[in-house]
Amino acid sequence: METVTLNGTKQTEQDRLRQQELKLSGEIPGHVAVIMDGNGRWAKSRGGIRVKGHQAGVDSVRDTVEVCAQLGVRHLTLFAFSTENWTRPQHEVNALMSLLVQTIRSETQKLHENNIRLTAIGQLDKFPTKCRNQLAEAIKLTKTNTGLELCLALSYSGRWDVTQATRKISEKVSKGQLSPDEVSDDLISSYLVTADKPDPDLIIRTSGEFRISNFLLWQLAYTEFYITETFWPDFRRDELYKAVECYQGRERRFGKVSEQVNSNDREKQTS
Ligand code: IPE
Ligand code: IPE
Ligand code: MG
Repeated sequence: METVTLNGTKQTEQDRLRQQELKLSGEIPGHVAVIMDGNGRWAKSRGGIRVKGHQAGVDSVRDTVEVCAQLGVRHLTLFAFSTENWTRPQHEVNALMSLLVQTIRSETQKLHENNIRLTAIGQLDKFPTKCRNQLAEAIKLTKTNTGLELCLALSYSGRWDVTQATRKISEKVSKGQLSPDEVSDDLISSYLVTADKPDPDLIIRTSGEFRISNFLLWQLAYTEFYITETFWPDFRRDELYKAVECYQGRERRFGKVSEQVNSNDREKQTS
């Protein structure tokens, strides 16, 4: 596997071994989603303004992206800005928009060099033109990369996603292009903005909150949760390793009983 480096420092031997150990100890989640929370509280706890927390969070994003790429995670979806976040004080929203533009501008080339594909989901048309253009340029540049997909959820909400899918499906039904009998679980999934990715295997939420906050409501039906007290700006690779380790220890039953899951695993191993 190619060595992915985003922060310009060489990977230590100890870190490489830790990753190797994780790859051997179980399955690496194919899709990891993260609710990056606690930036404001992190800044406040240090006597700073909330925006400082958002700025510091960029380092956590870089480390998380790098590790996911190194581990062989296929999709990483980061909740960067929710539909509800537009209701925050205007100066905070503005600061977040500037940070988004700056970060995309400074990081895109490195993402590209490391074969990472940048994508975005959400109501992107709500963003200022400058933001949209910067994002579109980065998406275009990295479009054909074959490594990790880094998907930014921007002005995203799970209810909006289900609503926009329902609207499109209803239009087809009303035009007679689709029959109500054809509306299935899979069909709905194919109209969501995440249609091109598998559902997340693992979701991480930082800052100790036990809620989904309108993130991927439909897609998280069978996702494993990992919640940590750590504020997002303090989140680094060691914690991500812990989350993956914890994921590997879970038994994903998908409604079945343990014995069925274990016999399926045995069949897989012998076939
Ligand atoms: C997460 O941190 C970043 C965004 C929601 C954009 P917060 O800004 O929510 O930080 P807290 O939760 O108030 O500490
Ligand atoms: C969720 O965090 C949204 C993002 C991380 C982008 P919030 O801080 O907005 O969530 P609540 O308001 O605490 O539920
Ligand atoms: Mg928060």
